[in-house]
Amino acid sequence: MSRPFSLYMLVGNPVSGSLSPAIHNAAFRALRMRALYVAVETPQGYLSQVVSASRFWTKGFNVTIPYKVDVMSLLDRLDRSASLVEAVNTVVNRKGVLVGYNTDGEGAMRALEKNLGPISGMRVVVLGAGGAARAIVFSLVQKGCQVVVANRTVSRAEALAAILRKKLGAEIRIIGLRKRELKKALSGSDLLINATSVGMLPHPEDTLVTADMLSPEVSVMDIVYKPLRTRLLREAEKAGCRTVDGLQMLVYQAALSFKLWTRRDPPLHTMMRAAKRAAEGRE
Ligand SMILES: NC(=O)c1ccc[n+]([C@@H]2O[C@H](COP(=O)([O-])OP(=O)(O)OC[C@H]3O[C@@H](n4cnc5c(N)ncnc54)[C@H](OP(=O)(O)O)[C@@H]3O)[C@@H](O)[C@H]2O)c1
Repeated sequence: MSRPFSLYMLVGNPVSGSLSPAIHNAAFRALRMRALYVAVETPQGYLSQVVSASRFWTKGFNVTIPYKVDVMSLLDRLDRSASLVEAVNTVVNRKGVLVGYNTDGEGAMRALEKNLGPISGMRVVVLGAGGAARAIVFSLVQKGCQVVVANRTVSRAEALAAILRKKLGAEIRIIGLRKRELKKALSGSDLLINATSVGMLPHPEDTLVTADMLSPEVSVMDIVYKPLRTRLLREAEKAGCRTVDGLQMLVYQAALSFKLWTRRDPPLHTMMRAAKRAAEGRE
């Protein structure tokens, strides 16, 4: 009898530019697993049908924009990682019971610690208050970091501060994106994380922070990975800062999903190599 075959998928819209299939399929090949990861472009109005089908056809799936919040009501259970942040990026199918997790925040923490060493207690400025920023800020606060959130829409940052207060009893500071305000916050910080979409293709020359606002004591992570070397990372290098690119977080969140689905140790080097190759368009 042939060995069982497992199907995994990415549910979102659009998904055509995603690197996740390349990352997971490289991992399956490396571990000689009979499994395939496919991107399923899910038009508005089809999410519940795709999730229903996933109970029979898949062992689990990832969720991306715009469904990370909407998918929650279609699942049977939420892990604390998802219920805290109120967003799901990974679903595990346990014999027909769909359990939602969020690996974005923990993925970002692993990427930071792998590249910069321990981060607990650091003073961190996070640019952005959207979905990715929210997951990252929750994880930073749980690591005992002091967090300043700078966002274009201040009310969105205030909403994030309110859920953090309610769920973790934690306080963060909120600022806007004015250069003077940002520079002052950065001067007393250890780490800057860009969790906005600023700098992403098709606007690779955009950045909220330039070299003159940074000093070498501040490490800089950009979670944008298209392009890989964003303008922010180039500005940070100019200022002598240590940098972490967006592929690192992408691969670590994928590795955490892989472990949840398969219970096997993810082949990190293989996944990182596949992500780089796919990001550089060599696939
Ligand atoms: N590396 C990874 O693993 C990973 C994982 C998830 C996401 N990402 C990337 O992270 C980025 C954000 O994703 P998301 O899911 O958090 O998106 P989102 O929920 O739509 O949030 C977007 C954020 O960017 C800000 N923003 C957008 N355009 C801006 C502009 N012109 N000036 C200033 N701020 C601006 C928004 O500010 P307002 O609140 O004012 O609108 C908001 O804070 C995307 O580029 C995504 O590809 C990377």
